[in-house]
Amino acid sequence: MAYTVPFVNPREHYRRYQAELEAAMIGALAQGDLIMRGQLREFEQNLARFVGCRHVVGVASGYHALHLSLLAAGVGPGDEVVTVAHTFVATISAIVNCGASPVLVDVRDDYDMDCGALEAAITPRTRAVLPVHLNGRVSDMAAIGDICSRRGLLIIEDAAQAIGATFGGRQAGTFGRAGCFSFFPFKILGGFGDGGAVATDDEAIALAIRRLRYNGEDRDTGEYHYHGFSALLDNVQAAVLDVKLRHLPSWIEHRRRIAQRYTAALAGVGDLRLPPADDADRRDIFQNYVIRTSRRDALRAHLRSSGIETLVHWPKPVWEHLGLRLGEHRLPNTEAICREVISLPMSAETTDRDVELAAAAIRGFFGD
Ligand SMILES: Cc1ncc(COP(=O)(O)O)c(C=O)c1O
Repeated sequence: MAYTVPFVNPREHYRRYQAELEAAMIGALAQGDLIMRGQLREFEQNLARFVGCRHVVGVASGYHALHLSLLAAGVGPGDEVVTVAHTFVATISAIVNCGASPVLVDVRDDYDMDCGALEAAITPRTRAVLPVHLNGRVSDMAAIGDICSRRGLLIIEDAAQAIGATFGGRQAGTFGRAGCFSFFPFKILGGFGDGGAVATDDEAIALAIRRLRYNGEDRDTGEYHYHGFSALLDNVQAAVLDVKLRHLPSWIEHRRRIAQRYTAALAGVGDLRLPPADDADRRDIFQNYVIRTSRRDALRAHLRSSGIETLVHWPKPVWEHLGLRLGEHRLPNTEAICREVISLPMSAETTDRDVELAAAAIRGFFGD
């Protein structure tokens, strides 16, 4: 159906940046620059400068960023990796596909890892912790960093949803041994297909990922060091992302302003719980604007019939997908969040009018 207020608006997005994007894409294609050429290197350098790290390695997706980071850090069979249950399945699949065991812990009301649960989940086999900066807000990296340094654990960050978000002035993706970004089309920095990157200060990790993404080959010597993967970030995608990176700061500002408008319009309505506010440490980039209500499914149906498109991230706890064989869990916050969350329209193209329409429909639903 055609929504009056779409969740995202890729056509309008393309229209706005068409000239710049086509110049970059056609430039790469016309020169025959398809694989590991200047566009990829330039994007990696520009992103490293933006994030404030020494190395960025472009890969085929956010999933690959996580998988290859864990492999490069030596995580493998017999190791446990602690992460949150309330995340996209790729976070967990990356751990499983290294041969390691994911240990799922609950989140707090603000969707961030419960650090008490993290401490309790650590065993002699725990090798790494994988915090997820969900919805565009960085995890409590002071507390997680403190636990990991006391217990000798590696941190790999899932920053797929949080490029440009900060904690204590530091960028998401710079707290761990490696930080993993996704350029899936509807991410804040989205390509025209799958894409991802790893940020790291660790030369050895960067080198290993450069090899792993290219079937294990060292490009300088031709030596195959591992059984690797075909997992490059394509040159044309890199050229697109380099154009978009220049606009990222203004898109972050836009999303923060849209989020403020939602918050002003929805405060005190029904039983709604709004996203956590920024605190002294955090600057949220609002990849998603997520609200909670005990009447989620009815609200979603009402918004749909009012022409407002929404999404639910995610309607059932990941371990209830039995094919994933994650075992049984009892994680009350994760379970409640899956029942209650709904994500409102949010993108660089979301307008004030979109917010007004969505907020009016929500207030109408609650009889406010
Ligand atoms: C939290 C989280 N982790 C990992 C991923 C995986 O990224 P990709 O879709 O680029 O593989 C995503 C995005 O979809 C995500 O939202």
